[in-house]
Amino acid sequence: MSDRKILVTSALPYANGPIHLGHLVEYIQTDIWVRFQKQRGEQCYFVCADDTHGTPIMLKADRDGITPEALIAQVGKEHLADFTEFGVAFDNYHSTHSEENKIFSSLIYTRLRDAGHISSRTITQAFDPVKNMFLPDRFIKGDCPKCGATEQYGDGCEVCGATYSPTELKNAVSAISGEKPIEKDSLHYFFNLADFTDMLTDWTRAGHLQPEVRNKLAEWLDGGLQQWDISRDAPYFGFEIPDAPGKYFYVWLDAPIGYMASFQNLCTKQGINFEEYWAKDSTTELYHFIGKDIIYFHALFWPAMLNGAQFRTPTAIFAHGFLTVNGEKMSKSRGTFITARTYLDHLNPEYLRYYFAAKLSAGVDDIDLNFEDFTQRVNSDLVGKVVNIASRCSGFINKRFANTLSTQCSEAALFQEFVDANTTIAAFYEGREFGKAMREIMALADKANQYIDEKKPWLVAKQENQDAELHDICSVGINLFRLLAAYLKPVIPALATEAELFLNIESQAWPVSTQPLLAHQVNDFKPLMTRVDTDKIALIVEASKENLEKTASIPPVEVKEKRFEPIADTIDFNDFAKLDLRIAKIIKAEAIEGSDKLLNLTVDIGDELRTIFAGIKSAYAPEDLEGKLTLVIANLAPRKMRFGTSEGMVLAAGPGDKEIWILSPEEGAVAGMRVK
Ligand code: MSP
Ligand code: ZN
Repeated sequence: MSDRKILVTSALPYANGPIHLGHLVEYIQTDIWVRFQKQRGEQCYFVCADDTHGTPIMLKADRDGITPEALIAQVGKEHLADFTEFGVAFDNYHSTHSEENKIFSSLIYTRLRDAGHISSRTITQAFDPVKNMFLPDRFIKGDCPKCGATEQYGDGCEVCGATYSPTELKNAVSAISGEKPIEKDSLHYFFNLADFTDMLTDWTRAGHLQPEVRNKLAEWLDGGLQQWDISRDAPYFGFEIPDAPGKYFYVWLDAPIGYMASFQNLCTKQGINFEEYWAKDSTTELYHFIGKDIIYFHALFWPAMLNGAQFRTPTAIFAHGFLTVNGEKMSKSRGTFITARTYLDHLNPEYLRYYFAAKLSAGVDDIDLNFEDFTQRVNSDLVGKVVNIASRCSGFINKRFANTLSTQCSEAALFQEFVDANTTIAAFYEGREFGKAMREIMALADKANQYIDEKKPWLVAKQENQDAELHDICSVGINLFRLLAAYLKPVIPALATEAELFLNIESQAWPVSTQPLLAHQVNDFKPLMTRVDTDKIALIVEASKENLEKTASIPPVEVKEKRFEPIADTIDFNDFAKLDLRIAKIIKAEAIEGSDKLLNLTVDIGDELRTIFAGIKSAYAPEDLEGKLTLVIANLAPRKMRFGTSEGMVLAAGPGDKEIWILSPEEGAVAGMRVK
């Protein structure tokens, strides 16, 4: 074909968890595009790697009681096995924890530093005094400063969506040790991204990005570019910074460099010229497929790093949207957080490849996997339309014509129409409009089926002296099927290969000038694909819920909730039934001289006033309590205390100190209500 030289990457999956269906949107999208290029005869390399560095991976290894090296070796194997079974065919799958990556990371850093793009200064950060390590935002938990939701991470609230810095969290604790973090100083290294403002402004406008991505970047650029913190303190699993012992490259510095490293590894194995692809004046094409969550890294940091270190920048960055399942974010409890492995245990991976292709466009819209739609599309398109053509025709070819096709093509115009469609379909593939490509191909499949419906070979077969007619009809059907298999090959390569076996032909190139198979011997037809079994989908959902149960007992990070006390010995129901719990209104609250804990409360429990001493002085000023409601045990035997007799007990909840909660009148209770 032409002499394009293309290098393609998918984002490098983190080595701390399994591949799931969300990831697969990207790897399948990239793989389809690469397979399409290869089928067209372009020279195209597809490289990827596991992203192995950083705190989560270090801590996971810690928790599993293994070294990070052992963890990433194991996970790397699992990832590659998942990808391979889904037909994602990398030319090289490497690791960011590799010699090549270390060399390139040092090289790029050194070049940036020597050109004056690195600076250092001391910053203050949350530090876990038990684990002796600085805490990334994600490893600090506490109550949201905006809405009060508990168990929120240091970077933002999942309940109200607020973003904030970890220092704003209330009751912050380290998610690793459960300890309250302290603040500590440390010297950090920064990449001066602002040095590249002009370069990036030009670059982001020069056609390397999708329009919606370009707009997002324009906003970021208008907002001004901040220095990027590229160092982390020990303990950290990563590469030590060459001139800064004890400091490590932040995982996101060496991650994209992992693209180069994986390609270098391939070059060494296959004698490819690395320079030709990465030198500043390279004329080859470089594409990164990524999810929309990591645009900032790929469209700002990465081109700036490459430019500053005298390497070429990407030809384009192709961002895609996120996968939802049945219209919602993937959820462990709903069983829709489905791992690649769980899917593979039950269903044909090519169903998913086709379904994703049918849904993908060149934009960044999220795509939804709806199980009903999935079943219906696969069954009706692949089984009902495409495979059906072959199965309708092959029986006659086999029984009546000894598996040999007719010597002529009786529908030259129709066949040519199918060949001519290659231009449109190719343009859709090239432009990542896979959904449109699939619709185009299915329209052709409809045409082929209509042709067979009109010609009714099953009736022709019953007539005498119509053998030639029957032979022609079925041969046309098989020749059309052959073209459909060629067009679908990037998407469902296993089915396409099975089809080639049946057709007894070589691996099909892109059909630009394909001629019909005439007088050609085919093989016995075997069903190429069965219908989606919906029971299997139910099994996948069940198994995904079980995954959750299995993992639920192991907290994601070791969380020690020191704020709560252990549950006391159980009591039986009769003991509980004896409690007379009432809502009480606090009429008067007074400090008690000589006690720094107790308040003297006068409470209305509906039919009488009681005096109760309550140990909630640390949380409330007396005047704040008056008029508020609380819960009391009304039948606790009166108890003589140093300051007088307490005629009941106030129930309040909270960790203590400043936080003991009682009820506000707005909460709908009235004094004297019995609580059951
Ligand atoms: N390690 C980084 C990428 C470094 S690239 C130099 C990372 N890893 S990831 O495992 O979280 O994600 C890998 C890719 O999968 C990303 O492009 C991400 O956008 C994509 N997806 C992860 N979950 C996804 C969905 N639910 N839906 C679609 N894509 C998703 O980010
Ligand atoms: Zn909130």
